Amino acid sequence: MTNLAFPDTPVFRGYAAPVRIEGDVHDLEVIGTIPAGMNGDYIRNSADHQYPPMFEDDLFLNGDGMLHRVRIANGRASLKTRYVETEKLKLERAAGRALFGRYRNQFTDDPSVAGVDRGTANTSVVWHGGKLLALKEAARPMAIDRETLATIGSYDFDGALKSQTFTAHPKVDPATGEMVAYGYFVDGVADTAVEIYFIAADGTLTRTERFHAPYASMIHDCLLSEQYIAFTICPMVCDWDRVQAGEAFFHWDDTRPTTVAVVPRAPGGGGNVRWFDSPTPVMQTHTFNAWEEGSLLHLEHFITQTGWLSQFPDINNPGTREQPPFAYRWTIDLESNTGGFIAEKMFPHIGEMPMIDLRHATTKTRHFWFGTSNTDLGPMLPFGPKGPPFTCIGHFDADSGALDYYYAGPDSSPEEPVFVPRSPDASEGDGWLVTIVGRRAENRTDLVILDALNLSAGPVATIRFPTRVHEGFHGIWIPG
Ligand SMILES: [Fe+2]
Repeated sequence: MTNLAFPDTPVFRGYAAPVRIEGDVHDLEVIGTIPAGMNGDYIRNSADHQYPPMFEDDLFLNGDGMLHRVRIANGRASLKTRYVETEKLKLERAAGRALFGRYRNQFTDDPSVAGVDRGTANTSVVWHGGKLLALKEAARPMAIDRETLATIGSYDFDGALKSQTFTAHPKVDPATGEMVAYGYFVDGVADTAVEIYFIAADGTLTRTERFHAPYASMIHDCLLSEQYIAFTICPMVCDWDRVQAGEAFFHWDDTRPTTVAVVPRAPGGGGNVRWFDSPTPVMQTHTFNAWEEGSLLHLEHFITQTGWLSQFPDINNPGTREQPPFAYRWTIDLESNTGGFIAEKMFPHIGEMPMIDLRHATTKTRHFWFGTSNTDLGPMLPFGPKGPPFTCIGHFDADSGALDYYYAGPDSSPEEPVFVPRSPDASEGDGWLVTIVGRRAENRTDLVILDALNLSAGPVATIRFPTRVHEGFHGIWIPG
């Protein structure tokens, strides 16, 4: 019999330990009052290993997709947690143990699963065209039943999606309802081809464009403006020889340049890509938004001066410590031929997990929210498997320059904030921020509702879970 025990490593112990419980809690405790008229589903994704990994040094990124839904209706809230039933999960449940090896590395798998879809569907969810999809950039979407969170299966847009991969960060244009998505490593191996998918508001995949990046690397997020989609190609390189040798799937190689691909959204855009180089190799973590102003294209995103070194090695400078991200606005003048851009720090504070009022995506916005830590308000928390957990949610008002913070309390770690408008036609930022907050000392989780424009006032309502759900990545709000 296999020894079925999780390794005693930071990825699998304490507050980071797998939860593995699929369940339902009716009528969660509510401290305060859920705002009247706030009805809908908060749904987010997490990586929650169903089985002890084949390799003890496994990454938390390699966990199985576990969805957490808080349904809010008429002041009451309920919780549902369900795994995404991927091919991987089903086969491993049948075997009673892990069969798939290292993160994205098929060469480390049990031979019995050769050629099987390795997708974990653990990164994000999107609601578009009446479909709920669980996403992981290494595989195709998984369709999920919104009511039951039951897995419907791998989804290829009625055969229109040819790629093996689909980003976890598609963008929806609020003006048209069109979803713009992309895939990299589209044949499932390291490659420079990038495909862009245009999906109409009704969910029909109408068009695919293709271009080539200068080298094969992670392309985790993107930027969408009214006329362009932009990709920041960063030296989180994938070298297939290293992957075949069983090494980490990505490595940071600062001898490679960071460069921005600006692709027109118009038909034929894949053949009209323009490139704009960063003066130094930097990494984009996640994006706020992009918008146009005459010939200027503004790209707003979090940037680090190092790669994602807590997860993947720096092959030229071993031992280099990962630097925290700051928000930058990169401005490209599309009428100039400099091949570069102007970079300006948006606010003097670290952050990550950016959020805007998505009703204004692709146009200039005033309000920016993000996860962060602020030692003026409370001490940093001990490092977890992803680095230091956030202690705060921040709000930056680009008009006034003001920063406002919600401090979640001792031993408490808020996660990615999601904006919920007060009403469909409320002004930008008028509404609430919803965020999961880990109560680490209690080994428990809350969902906190904040006034989006007055974070320091503290929660409007705190929805208490009786248990812990696993730390997650990205979530959405689906209205009522
Ligand atoms: Fe992400």
